[in-house]
Amino acid sequence: MSTSLFSLEGRTALVTGGGGVIGTELARGLAAAGATVGVQDLTMDRAEAVGMPHAFAVDVSDPAACAALISEAEHAMGRVDILVNCVGINRRKPIDDVTPEDFDAIVAVNMRAVFFLCQAVHAGMRAHGGGSIVNVSSLSAKYSYQTISVYAATKAAVTSMTRSFAQEWARDSIRVNCIEPSVVRTEFTKPLWGEPHRQRFFDELTPLGRLMEPGELVGAVLYLAGDASSYVTGQAITIEGGILSGANWDQFA
Ligand SMILES: NC(=O)c1ccc[n+]([C@@H]2O[C@H](COP(=O)([O-])OP(=O)(O)OC[C@H]3O[C@@H](n4cnc5c(N)ncnc54)[C@H](O)[C@@H]3O)[C@@H](O)[C@H]2O)c1
Repeated sequence: MSTSLFSLEGRTALVTGGGGVIGTELARGLAAAGATVGVQDLTMDRAEAVGMPHAFAVDVSDPAACAALISEAEHAMGRVDILVNCVGINRRKPIDDVTPEDFDAIVAVNMRAVFFLCQAVHAGMRAHGGGSIVNVSSLSAKYSYQTISVYAATKAAVTSMTRSFAQEWARDSIRVNCIEPSVVRTEFTKPLWGEPHRQRFFDELTPLGRLMEPGELVGAVLYLAGDASSYVTGQAITIEGGILSGANWDQFA
């Protein structure tokens, strides 16, 4: 990294859901900027596969496990200066097919875990003079598609919680921001874009003309994690290839 504004030398970072496609990119990006990185995932195999110095296996759908994870990470890494909450799940179904069990499972990981992970990291960050939390929300917080109703609601909650945490903890020098990515090209999202007509839908309705690659989220997270964003808190950076910028009315000519 050529400029010290983006250097994370001497800082520790914990990435939840860090064994996933996006989490792996974020963990490696934070490490390349100089941070000592810990990765949490459901299993040790998934967490260790990222190749960071610290790995943790925890199921964050249990709020008590969220507190235990933060305490384990603080113990192993000395403190947590940067928390990136990348953990998230989805069960894509039409609204009529969503069961109470689906609803609770998505809420437990995407919304409740993010809340209690942030709550658990607060005391340690405050004691060490501050920190930065970056939550991975989604474009669906403000722009929905079919079959993602519960997921979209939880992501709107993540964006909302980001503002509330930023407000309550600003005087502790803890900044809290989120990113709201549109669809990232991964195996998990392939059902959304895999068919030719869906591929065309995304390519034509996205001003930049293509889906995002997972590595294209790293820059925004590095910006929010470190000193380059020292006066930025409570914000959502929407990373969506221009979808919300508007539409081209000659597109269907
Ligand atoms: N892929 C996209 O297009 C996209 C778009 C916008 C936002 N996001 C968000 O980005 C984040 C990462 O998405 P991804 O595509 O990398 O998904 P992914 O499934 O590859 O990664 C999520 C990781 O979280 C872990 N995880 C799931 N439930 C867990 C639990 N209960 N306890 C601990 N770990 C658990 C999984 O094992 C997985 O490694 C999610 O929050 C997702 O909502 C993804």
